[in-house]
Amino acid sequence: MSVILTDIWRHFTRANHDKKHPFRYGVLGTQSLIKGEIAMRTVVMRRFNIDAYAIDCYTDYRSPKVQQIQANQQVSWLFYHARQKLQIRLKATAIIHHNNDLTRQMWQQLPQYARRDYLTINAPSSHTHSSNVDYLSTDNDAYFCIITSHITAIDYLQLSRDQHQRLLFIKNQQSGTFETKQLVP
Ligand SMILES: Cc1cc2nc3c(=O)[nH]c(=O)nc-3n(C[C@H](O)[C@H](O)[C@H](O)COP(=O)(O)O)c2cc1C
Repeated sequence: MSVILTDIWRHFTRANHDKKHPFRYGVLGTQSLIKGEIAMRTVVMRRFNIDAYAIDCYTDYRSPKVQQIQANQQVSWLFYHARQKLQIRLKATAIIHHNNDLTRQMWQQLPQYARRDYLTINAPSSHTHSSNVDYLSTDNDAYFCIITSHITAIDYLQLSRDQHQRLLFIKNQQSGTFETKQLVP
């Protein structure tokens, strides 16, 4: 495996445990349901699974991003490590986990305060006339869902004063390994 690909996995693995790692937050891009529009939002990268080359984030099942992924599984991720001047763009195929063993297991591990994000009575992104938000009880996991993004391609850009470096890693679906192409930065 290329040294650079190993380094990319090392960053994501570190972000698993280190809440201060810049890759802990990423921008998840999906295709909007409004024709011609693109949808992006910051989310917490909850888990990187190196065996499956997959990253998980948590969300509310009622949120627009879930409907968008149900309509089109192709998603993009953007990460930037400012100190290292490293940009990683991912292409991935997303799967929604809802009301299954994985969501039940992860829900049990979520602290009470963190569960609130998935407990609003009214759906996220719905219109409201009040700044007060009403919540369901903290044992209700009805809307908790996990988006698992299986990485299919990685666009790597390392900025450097000497010379920028840009590589494209594309997953070979047969072998499951990543093939490297060098790009003009
Ligand atoms: C720092 C930060 C972290 C966030 N983390 C999450 C997250 O892990 N999951 C999530 O659904 N929304 C998260 N959000 C909110 C989203 O950016 C977005 O506003 C919300 O999910 C609605 O997105 P949608 O309408 O496109 O579905 C986060 C926002 C910020 C600013």
